Amino acid sequence: MSNWQKSNWRSKPRVQMPDYTDQDALHSVEAQLAKYPPLVFAGEARRLKAQLGAAGRGEAFLLQGGDCAESFEQFSADGIRDTFKVMLQMAMVLTYGAKVPVVKVGRMAGQFAKPRSAPTETINGVELPSYRGDIINELAFTPEARIPDPKKMLQAYTQAAATLNLIRAFSTGGYADVHQVHAWTLGFTEGDKAEAYRDMANRITDTLDFMKAAGVTKDNAHTLQTVEYYTSHEGLLLEYEEALTRLDSTSGKWLAGSGHMIWIGDRTRQPDGAHVEFCSGVLNPIGLKCGPTTTADDLKVLMQKLNPENEEGKLTLIARFGAGKVADHLPRLVQAVKDEGAKVTWVCDPMHGNTIKSASGYKTRPFESVLREVRDFFGVHQAEGTIPGGVHFEMTGQDVTECTGGVREVTDEDLSDRYHTACDPRLNADQSLELAFLVAEELSRLRTPDDSRAAI
Ligand code: PEP
Ligand code: CO
Repeated sequence: MSNWQKSNWRSKPRVQMPDYTDQDALHSVEAQLAKYPPLVFAGEARRLKAQLGAAGRGEAFLLQGGDCAESFEQFSADGIRDTFKVMLQMAMVLTYGAKVPVVKVGRMAGQFAKPRSAPTETINGVELPSYRGDIINELAFTPEARIPDPKKMLQAYTQAAATLNLIRAFSTGGYADVHQVHAWTLGFTEGDKAEAYRDMANRITDTLDFMKAAGVTKDNAHTLQTVEYYTSHEGLLLEYEEALTRLDSTSGKWLAGSGHMIWIGDRTRQPDGAHVEFCSGVLNPIGLKCGPTTTADDLKVLMQKLNPENEEGKLTLIARFGAGKVADHLPRLVQAVKDEGAKVTWVCDPMHGNTIKSASGYKTRPFESVLREVRDFFGVHQAEGTIPGGVHFEMTGQDVTECTGGVREVTDEDLSDRYHTACDPRLNADQSLELAFLVAEELSRLRTPDDSRAAI
């Protein structure tokens, strides 16, 4: 939009954002961030947009995953490496199993700010402001820890830059070379899916040996030795987003320099609100969470605002309804997209509609519900003749016990063992891999038309 300015959101109603008490400190942080280099570049965002466009047409598939909330305290090279590894494994399962190129996008290098269901939290009769992510305040339950501190934006930027630096090294420095397909396995993974992965890795290695023997590797060496890996986060803290927004000299358009893709959460998607206003003016691909309260009319307005030129790959609709509820909600939104002739990429987030409180008091997600929502999502798209373009998971490469179920059956009682998330419960490495096999199955079923079977 020609009259769009990166600060226009300030005149719109805002929700889920902190009220900073020290305005001078806020302004000085904003001024500092505005001088820092952007974390991503316009050409990269455009490339991701093209790939998401392919996913919207069924010619690629999006795998988006990572922490619910990145944490300052748990920041480590090993943590980044392990999540990256599991995503490579999952992508390989999808590519090999469903014969589809996978677009890999981490919830990483910027996923720090969290919307909350309540502004305050009460423990033993003490009420304090809610924790809103490490970029805003601290998890510790003390009044000081919960005060929003603008300086945390600088630490978030530094951590995001370091994370992205490591990811860029992993992506192109040899680590992601497909010849390493066995090395991506994590020490602790076990069960039949880990076995299935090893079998598949053997077959891939055989194929590579064959290609080498036949002399075919040279032309494709680059494709096989590197991956493209993109970053994404919820564009929630708009002071941070605005400060990192830069004019792209090639196109004359604005780039949100904080990550390749940013999304709008289910709680901040008011058509006239600050978050939609900000996201409507940047050239990055935009995600929009769609939940049970998203109406067809709202979606039509949002599609118009967020993708006025109806560009492929610009808008990804991330459906998060909950297992058993997809058929109640997704068809009306699919219809709205059809009515408008809108180009969108449909993605399933089977996490956020399936959060429950376990008997032991932990916030958890049953693996079966996650699975079921993915199946429901594929089912509705098949019935509607539309395209499931990807999946969006909260997951980690760590061996945590946060979601129940899976092959290595995590029970309610196990949750306390290794419950490390700063916010929502994540799939562990085994559960993530198991899910990838399931998605690959759903996808290949979809890609094998019934009539091809009739011919056998
Ligand atoms: C999230 O993705 O972490 C999130 C808060 O999702 P939603 O906005 O869909 O609830
Ligand atoms: Co979450």
